[in-house]
Amino acid sequence: APPDPAAAKRAAGLAAAALVEDGMRLGLGTGSTTAFAIEAIGRRVRDEGLDVAGVPTSYDAERLARAHGVPLLALADLDLDTLPTAQAGLDLALDGADEVSPAAALIKGRGGAHVREKVVAALAARFVVLVDPSKEVERLGTTAPVPVEVLPFAEPAVLRALRGLGAEPALRMGERKDGPVVTDQGLWIVDARFPGIDDPAALGAAIGSVPGVLGHGLFVGMATDVLVGEAEGGVRHRV
Ligand code: A5P
Repeated sequence: APPDPAAAKRAAGLAAAALVEDGMRLGLGTGSTTAFAIEAIGRRVRDEGLDVAGVPTSYDAERLARAHGVPLLALADLDLDTLPTAQAGLDLALDGADEVSPAAALIKGRGGAHVREKVVAALAARFVVLVDPSKEVERLGTTAPVPVEVLPFAEPAVLRALRGLGAEPALRMGERKDGPVVTDQGLWIVDARFPGIDDPAALGAAIGSVPGVLGHGLFVGMATDVLVGEAEGGVRHRV
């Protein structure tokens, strides 16, 4: 039988929930893998009286956290105005990814949550990425497009700029809705397919400087840990 991605995702999610310690302030990522972690953290809150709270990276993460009894925080609760800038606002952020390179550069945003995900990951002392083995690639861009969140007004100009950077871009359209997918911020997503990405940091900087782009799904130099769940229940820890 082919390996079960749900079992591998669950293994990664459970391993991530086990990293959580009493008193931690968390980042709660988006997607089917992190959902297993949020559920397991809720279980620990109930069974062990674990005292934690997390900033959700999407409406979806927020609803899941509520459903599983994980207390929520907003960025405004983190006292960022008084915290030394060298000190992280969050102890641990957990999130999935669409692709992970050997150097732990990521493509994220299949779920359209990558902009909030990046804000939250950047605040965390530790950013732990949870994947199943299908997400591991030798070269970014092999399986996944780079999601780019755009101002609707600017969409034709952003498409053109992305073509100039070597992409085949397409506006993400709804499946159960007519017209463009609208993000939690009320903006649109362009999926930019590249024939392979050799320098994700340079490409990310170029995409990020296109006028009308709110943010993109290339995460470079952010992951501190990668947990790769296996269908048999084991977990490989890449640092
Ligand atoms: C959300 O926008 C994405 O960045 C997700 O974190 C990513 O797509 C992983 O999702 P799965 O865990 O469902 O594969």
